[in-house]
Amino acid sequence: RKVTVIRAPFNGGQGKLGVELGPDRLVEYGLLSDIKELGWKYEISDPLKGTDWEEMRHDSSDMFDNCKRPHMVSECCKKIYQASSEARRTKSFPLTIGGDHSIGMSTILAFINAHPDGGIIWVDAHADINTPSSTDSGNLHGCPVAFAMGLDEEHWPSDFEWIKQLKHLVKPNQIAYIGLRDVDKGEKKILKDLGIAAFSMYHIDKYGINGVVKRAIKAINPTGEGPIHVSYDVDGIDPQYVAATGTPVRGGLTLREGLFIVEELAATGLLAGLDIVEVNPSLGASEMHMVDTVNAGLSISRCALGETIL
Ligand code: ARG
Ligand code: MN
Ligand code: MN
Ligand code: MN
Repeated sequence: RKVTVIRAPFNGGQGKLGVELGPDRLVEYGLLSDIKELGWKYEISDPLKGTDWEEMRHDSSDMFDNCKRPHMVSECCKKIYQASSEARRTKSFPLTIGGDHSIGMSTILAFINAHPDGGIIWVDAHADINTPSSTDSGNLHGCPVAFAMGLDEEHWPSDFEWIKQLKHLVKPNQIAYIGLRDVDKGEKKILKDLGIAAFSMYHIDKYGINGVVKRAIKAINPTGEGPIHVSYDVDGIDPQYVAATGTPVRGGLTLREGLFIVEELAATGLLAGLDIVEVNPSLGASEMHMVDTVNAGLSISRCALGETIL
């Protein structure tokens, strides 16, 4: 059993600096020793190494309509896609640590191209399914699911041509959301029109987290046998536990609910990959907020790798 830790210190999908420091902080607070202690071997993949992201970030010509930095995002995502596919080829468990959530397009595309029968659980306060035409903010971390599904591809910036060449894109019945509470108007329409399984905080109140996880698994994995990838935006958890993140929204998952999701998925034996994104060590009102947020990220990773309380 081997984990490939894919470092994705990327901030181009949104406006706030600091999220690129997520990977180093997670490692500094013990990610690698956690992995070892749980009985996994690991290797580190650093696909963005050597790229001058700062220079790219400040290229003011990198705009398409109101989409910010499409070239930067696409170049980064292509590299993460390759690293993630390579981990899959060697049957290693890809654990991708961000960085902002734009990189989610790469990890879920690499997953679906390795496992066309797979299912994705997207834990997030946000649906991240805006298209380049529907986004109001222009931040591409609000768009990765639309790219991975090929939505409205006639209106994409040309940088994302590589996605159109892939054998498989994500289909609407291959993804389920948990934790939603801040969904844009255009996104609501997309979710509805495509019949995507979306469990909001309302559904968690209604069915309980156990009921929601069961329903989400069933929605993406009707046979109960296909592999599952989790793309985990830490802002799915309530800001009272996870404050150091760029787009916090109150009324979220408790820390326990957030961990239960990964505990339960690990227990199925089907969990085949994890992203932990949007940890921004520079945000939060105090050092304690940063430490809480990083530790929440580490707990998510440990639960996914099989840690149980007893
Ligand atoms: N829906 C908003 C937007 O399109 C917020 C997206 C937040 N995404 C995230 N990965 N935190 O800008
Ligand atoms: Mn380009
Ligand atoms: Mn989010
Ligand atoms: Mn997100």
